[in-house]
Formats: sequence, C-alpha cells, structure tokens
Amino acid sequence: MRRRAVLTAVTLTGALALAGCSGSGSGSAAADLSVNGPYMPQPVSADMAAGFLTIINTGAAKDELTSVTSNVAGQVTMHSTMGGAMEEEPSFAIPAHGRLVFKSGGNHLMFEKLKRKPRQGQTVTVKLTFAKSGPLTVEMPVKSATYNPSTGH
Ligand code: CU
Repeated sequence: MRRRAVLTAVTLTGALALAGCSGSGSGSAAADLSVNGPYMPQPVSADMAAGFLTIINTGAAKDELTSVTSNVAGQVTMHSTMGGAMEEEPSFAIPAHGRLVFKSGGNHLMFEKLKRKPRQGQTVTVKLTFAKSGPLTVEMPVKSATYNPSTGH
C-alpha cells in the first residue's frame, strides 16, 4: 500500500516535468535520440559478432528501434535475453526521457553473414533505423574479445 502511494507520486512528478518541457520548448513532442558507448567485442567466430550500445532519448515522445544494418554484415538482428535464452525481436521500444540498453548478458545486436572478420582497433559502421526519428549512423569500435565497458579493458 505504502509502496504504491510512492510510485504514484513519482509518476505525477514525471507528468508535471513533461508538461513543463513542452511548454517552454518548441511545442512539438518528439524523441531526441543519441547513442552512447557503442562497441563490438572482437568476435571469436568468422561468421557472427555481437554489438552493444545505449540509445538515450532526451525527448518527450517515445520511439522504436525498428532495424539495424552494418557495412560488415549481411544481416543484423536484435535479440533480447530472458533467463539465459535469447530471442530475436522485431523492434525495441525507447521510452520518452529514457533509454534502450544493449549490453553483455542482456539485449544485444547480432551481426550475421560477416563480410570480413572485425578486428580489435577497427571500427564498423552501424546504421540504426527508428519508427519516427531519422536514422542514426554510429562508428562502433571493435574492442578485445573480453572487453568490459565498466573497467575499460
Ligand atoms: Cu543473440
């Protein structure tokens, strides 16, 4: 009961902040997307690689990541991980004033049908396509096979 009351208060504050935003801004509610911390661990296999990044939405509207392409892969698919099992997803939601996180052990991008094997020190070009916002092109650095973004090694 007590917990529910606290949650409601937080939701209300969020709604007020949102109203404040659109009042002082241009008036049009739209997603405002940027990409943070993209990387690809150097793949072990020659035909498949994983990729990780965070999409940050500072806008007042939600959006959706609908497809991913890359210059090194014939196909890039989006996967979620649930209880250790991964599943291909057709799209991922990006909440307003929120973020969509792809990280090791969780959601991830899967680069398939590799045209060349990405090596540490290189970058691969990744194009993200959204339901509403224009596409974003990201230069994704290839890190060591065991790279951990929290330690930087
Ligand atoms: Cu996967």
